[in-house]
Amino acid sequence: MSVEAHRELKKNQDLRITVMGLGHVGLPMALGLAELGWPTIGADEDSKKVASLSSGKSPFYEPGLQDLLSRHLNNGRFIPTDDLEGAIRASNVMFVCVGTPQRSNGEADLSQVESVARKIGRNLDGYKLIVEKSTVPVITARWIKKTVQRYAKVPVLTGPEGEDSGNAELEFDVASNPEFLQEGQALQNFFHPDRIVCGVESERAWEILEEIYRPLQCPVLRTDLNTAELIKHTANAFLATKISFINMVADLCEKVDADVTQVVEGIGRDPRIGPHFLSPGIGFGGYCLPKDVRAFVHMAETCGVDFSLLKEVERVNQQRVARFLSKVRNALWVLNGKVIGVLGAAFKPNTDDIREAPSLRIVEGLLAEGASLQLYDPNAMPGVRNVFPPENYPIRYCSSPYEVAEGAHAVLVLTEWEEFRGLDLLRLREAMDVPVLVDGRNVYRPEAVRAAGFEYISIGR
Ligand code: UGA
Repeated sequence: MSVEAHRELKKNQDLRITVMGLGHVGLPMALGLAELGWPTIGADEDSKKVASLSSGKSPFYEPGLQDLLSRHLNNGRFIPTDDLEGAIRASNVMFVCVGTPQRSNGEADLSQVESVARKIGRNLDGYKLIVEKSTVPVITARWIKKTVQRYAKVPVLTGPEGEDSGNAELEFDVASNPEFLQEGQALQNFFHPDRIVCGVESERAWEILEEIYRPLQCPVLRTDLNTAELIKHTANAFLATKISFINMVADLCEKVDADVTQVVEGIGRDPRIGPHFLSPGIGFGGYCLPKDVRAFVHMAETCGVDFSLLKEVERVNQQRVARFLSKVRNALWVLNGKVIGVLGAAFKPNTDDIREAPSLRIVEGLLAEGASLQLYDPNAMPGVRNVFPPENYPIRYCSSPYEVAEGAHAVLVLTEWEEFRGLDLLRLREAMDVPVLVDGRNVYRPEAVRAAGFEYISIGR
């Protein structure tokens, strides 16, 4: 496409966007784009999910998502489909948001990305910008490019070293535009990003991405492809490092009778450190941080860089569950035959996601020691019930935190839902058999809980 034709395309705002993969990244992204005014196709091979979306039902919980879905289905700005190839042909900008799960060795499994790249290649019928949004190891964009070229059977210009010298004769560009959305606040993050990173190889790709994101009015960092990919993994690995670091400090605080909350306040006021992502607890979980740390280590090793620092981050994180269980054991002595209340199961608040949630391993550990459980989570109950069906496990699924407390020998807080902060502690205590509260997320002020008559155990305080 000539520069003139591209200018024309911009003038007409003829950007036909498809978001490929409608999971926790893709769906907020697609609906966010629709809200910005871009008509957006949402393509996913999972026809059940697409049917659910078409009938107006979001397949998972995320604040604000359901409203946006209803609005943009009604006004036609969001079109869900399971016809990926049709969606590719109908669009000139494709955001690739498919899953990148991990293999047993920690490496990222890129087969879904590769499959999409093949489909794009086969359906290349004019200029297309392929925007990689899934979290992928560095140099994935190069592979996408190569794969599209191969399957499109288009001529490739090669440089003097036999290197690919760019897309000059090809009707496509690849860009890396990593997402930094956090589950539970994905739309808030989409509409108010700290920064947008665009790894591009051409002016054309840069201008299209600038155009799409212009309404968000935030700093946009332009980089090359590898740098953009690396930024994403580096961000998640660094966040994970902060959490493991503060978890170790919390352990130390317990040994020397110091208060980790004040340590965090004391260091967090230093702008070079900052106060965020320094909450100690039962460890980081979810679909991203644990898998991205492993993938980062694997990728570094493949490149001959020994990133064992991150192996330690992972090891510290793995130990959090055992450490928390030992706190419960120290509080109750014997767990066998005890009724234990569990508040929260989601890997963090405002989501129903339980993937790699440390809470599940804690539940498993308690059950293995013969405790029976009473569990409540505002959103994640269906997921937990699938993993631990009440027919097979001594778990009673409760409809409120107070029901969780009924006759319990201890109540454990595993997710810091806002609902739990406002509980009537006296009512909770009265319902319990023994007033022991083990708080894995430092939700409460120790003085307040002790004043309400609890034996209170938290993290690093
Ligand atoms: C993470 C990153 O924060 C996002 O920036 C990124 O876009 C996303 O992964 C992704 O790669 O898609 P998310 O998985 O939604 O987001 O969850 P986080 O908010 O990062 O929390 C991860 C885990 O760390 C949770 O289990 C949380 O409880 C735990 N955590 C977080 C702590 O234990 N302490 C803290 O101070 C913060």
